Amino acid sequence: MKRLFDLFKSQKGPLITTIQPSGESFEVPKNKTLLQTALSEGVNFPYHCTVGTCGNCRCKLIDGEVRAIMDFSYTLSEAEISDGYILACQSLLKSNITIELEADVNQPSEPLETFSGVIKDTHMLTHDIMQVNVELDRAIRFSAGQFADIGLPGFGRHRSYSFACAPLDVGQKSLSFHVRNVPGGSYTEWLFDNDRKNERFELHGPSGAFWLRTSDAPILAVAGGSGMAPLKSILDDALLKGVNRPITYLFGAREQRDLYCLDEMQALAKQWPNTFNFIPVLSEEATDSNWTGKRGLVTDFINDETTGFPIVDSHAYLCGPPGMIDATLAVLEEAHVNLSHVHYDKFLDSRQLDN
Ligand SMILES: Cc1cc2nc3c(=O)[nH]c(=O)nc-3n(C[C@H](O)[C@H](O)[C@H](O)COP(=O)(O)OP(=O)(O)OC[C@H]3O[C@@H](n4cnc5c(N)ncnc54)[C@H](O)[C@@H]3O)c2cc1C
Ligand code: FES
Repeated sequence: MKRLFDLFKSQKGPLITTIQPSGESFEVPKNKTLLQTALSEGVNFPYHCTVGTCGNCRCKLIDGEVRAIMDFSYTLSEAEISDGYILACQSLLKSNITIELEADVNQPSEPLETFSGVIKDTHMLTHDIMQVNVELDRAIRFSAGQFADIGLPGFGRHRSYSFACAPLDVGQKSLSFHVRNVPGGSYTEWLFDNDRKNERFELHGPSGAFWLRTSDAPILAVAGGSGMAPLKSILDDALLKGVNRPITYLFGAREQRDLYCLDEMQALAKQWPNTFNFIPVLSEEATDSNWTGKRGLVTDFINDETTGFPIVDSHAYLCGPPGMIDATLAVLEEAHVNLSHVHYDKFLDSRQLDN
């Protein structure tokens, strides 16, 4: 009887979304997604791809029903779906709904804007990762961990790159990025093929939901390759802001030649006011090399013994190749880490994003 009444109610009037804990609510037209409507209502809703692949618009459905335009399981794990997570950009309302959206003092609130910029200089960090220092026409404000979309003249679609520097409160024109050379990749081949000093580009940003949430919980950071960039930004920023939490940072690479920022991590560890374990893990290092550190996959070392704190109590920040993130998510789910404490940025490329 209640179901019939709900159906009747949903067919008669406009459907309403309520956001907790803010209590904001708005009507959602039948043909509009939850994300489209939230953005047009001025809600500070995280998003990026709008096509159901990046996971940035992930939020928790507390009450009511939605219809998925594209199956959520393409992007969200089984555990996330059974915990009630949905993708707002792929959700049409079937009834009035209540969703949970984070409210945190650190939550990014800077509007997405377009800037023009120029490449100032570049230098190699490893054999295939380059630091690119750029200068914008005017200052941008962003939150540590966020990224920007870069558009090169003559190239169709933009590509996303995470800020590799800590943000300044007043904003800044000088920025740096860490870019890995992707064989056959159109942007990275252009960048690595020649000296690109003084080349101009457009930047749209800031974007992204990968930022450090306020908490006292221990931090488990996991990155691979240029996934170092946003974590470096987050950790540099956290140090400046006096964050005092234990951290274990597992950094995955293939061989020693793929490791970088080791001095910077060592310097951070010295200044960090709490325990700071930076653990590089190599997956393809020759067995007879001089490497005395960890060997294997980062996921092999996600255990209480290595981290030095109960993983189940940690807040996890994962960044890098999608395969590494999916494997890490599976381990964290197995360890019963609360999924609302797991934050990630998958470095998806055009194959995943343009589909
Ligand atoms: C939120 C976010 C943040 C990111 N941050 C960073 C960062 O900080 N640093 C970083 O290095 N990267 C980052 N990335 C990845 C980055 O955006 C690019 O995807 C990456 O640099 C590759 O771009 P590309 O143009 O060189 O490659 P693409 O042209 O996108 O190609 C990628 C791969 O796909 C193959 N390919 C392309 N088209 C086809 C096709 N039709 N058929 C078969 N294969 C094909 C190419 O050969 C190549 O191997 C981020 C991605 C996201 C989503
Ligand atoms: S914005 Fe919804 S999945 Fe990317």
